Amino acid sequence: MSVQETALSKALDDILTHRKQSGLPVFSIDGPFLSSPPDFFSNDYLSLSTNSLLRELFLRKAASVPRLFGATGCRLATGNGEDYRNLEERLAHFFQSPDALLCTSGSVANQGFWSTVPQPGDVLIFDQLTHFSSCDGAQLSQIPKDMQYTFEHNSVSSFKRCLEDVLKKHHAQIVQGTGTVFVAVESLYSIDGDFSPLEDIVQIVEELVPKGHAHVFVDEAHTSGVLGPDGRGYVAHLGFGERVHTKMHTLGKAWGHQRGVLATSSTVRKYLLNCCKALGYTTCIAYMDLHVLNCSLDIISGPKGQELRDTLVHVVRYTRTHLDNALRHFPAHILSLSLPSTHLPDDDLDRVAAARRAELKPYSPVIPLITPHAIDLADYLVRCGYNAAALVYPVVNVSTVRVIVHAENTEAEVDRFVETVAEWATAKMQTVAQEGQHVVEVSGESCGR
Ligand SMILES: Cc1ncc(COP(=O)(O)O)c(C=O)c1O
Repeated sequence: MSVQETALSKALDDILTHRKQSGLPVFSIDGPFLSSPPDFFSNDYLSLSTNSLLRELFLRKAASVPRLFGATGCRLATGNGEDYRNLEERLAHFFQSPDALLCTSGSVANQGFWSTVPQPGDVLIFDQLTHFSSCDGAQLSQIPKDMQYTFEHNSVSSFKRCLEDVLKKHHAQIVQGTGTVFVAVESLYSIDGDFSPLEDIVQIVEELVPKGHAHVFVDEAHTSGVLGPDGRGYVAHLGFGERVHTKMHTLGKAWGHQRGVLATSSTVRKYLLNCCKALGYTTCIAYMDLHVLNCSLDIISGPKGQELRDTLVHVVRYTRTHLDNALRHFPAHILSLSLPSTHLPDDDLDRVAAARRAELKPYSPVIPLITPHAIDLADYLVRCGYNAAALVYPVVNVSTVRVIVHAENTEAEVDRFVETVAEWATAKMQTVAQEGQHVVEVSGESCGR
């Protein structure tokens, strides 16, 4: 090994050690691997990745199509096959959008859009908890830092103040000029499982920004296939169609496969393909993937998709009720299902929006278990055979173990899981009481099974 490699290895090891010391997770991705535990942690919301109908539809298709493997080139060369365009047209129609651009992943779609579409003189406003891939894209864009703004997560009042401020400061570009205000939100934020107050945000944009000078972007990663008529997403659920300019749907979560799609205008699509190298100049998605995604779309938009969504809502309700019953008597310094009151809105605009969003809870498969002992709880769940992971500061402000339920979780699986969490909480109460302190990380309770 050369001296340089040794120095580099040491530098990289030091960074990982520092990461761990400052509380950031450092994952061991080389095992041990859990063998098919009941799934309470993946993004496979409709359980499509293991769905036998999807498998059957794909295998039938695969046996009959002329091309299956590879794509042979990039979009601007030999990769631009008819199958590609056909699927994009289907997706554009499904997402009720003028056009659609398939991308290698949701992250690439976000990064490609934000790094390339905003033009000098434009302003970006992001929810503070926007996914890293959009933030990375914005960093690579032509928009200087002082033209990029964030507002407090899901706070309508903070968004309104931010937009008013932006319009005052950049009056010349936006109100009198040719600039555009871009606004980025996610439909459902996957850390706390909370929906964006999209209705209020869109309404404020329409009231304050001169017509034609705003571009609202919604990342539908966690609602695609799950919410709205035929699983078209949150924007469709709200009936917002044209009031949102670009929607990004990931196809690796409820869709059971992989990839991402930007549902947007034909101009944005054409511009991205020509000007975003990461989208136009990369080998296209293989034919096989196009076939799987066509089959996923057949299921999601058909009666089986509706059945899976109905079942998911039932599982969400069942799990929330049972967790609530089993955990409600534990104090918040052990475990809670709701955020501490210091995180609740104190502004009227926000209270109204929060109440409206609370009605959507049965549609959020993400249920955070809020606990200062998140690492301990996750370790316990892993010892009990679950694929759990903790989210702790500085990744999140309030540490949690994020539970995600799925269409194929059975009531018996939920019962066992809830029992396991309650067992941990009971043991933790005793440990904390014995030690006479509230916030302490203790590990070592063995799994009750
Ligand atoms: C909100 C959000 N956007 C985008 C992505 C990226 O999607 P993909 O996994 O397809 O790259 C994720 C993935 O977790 C996400 O949570």
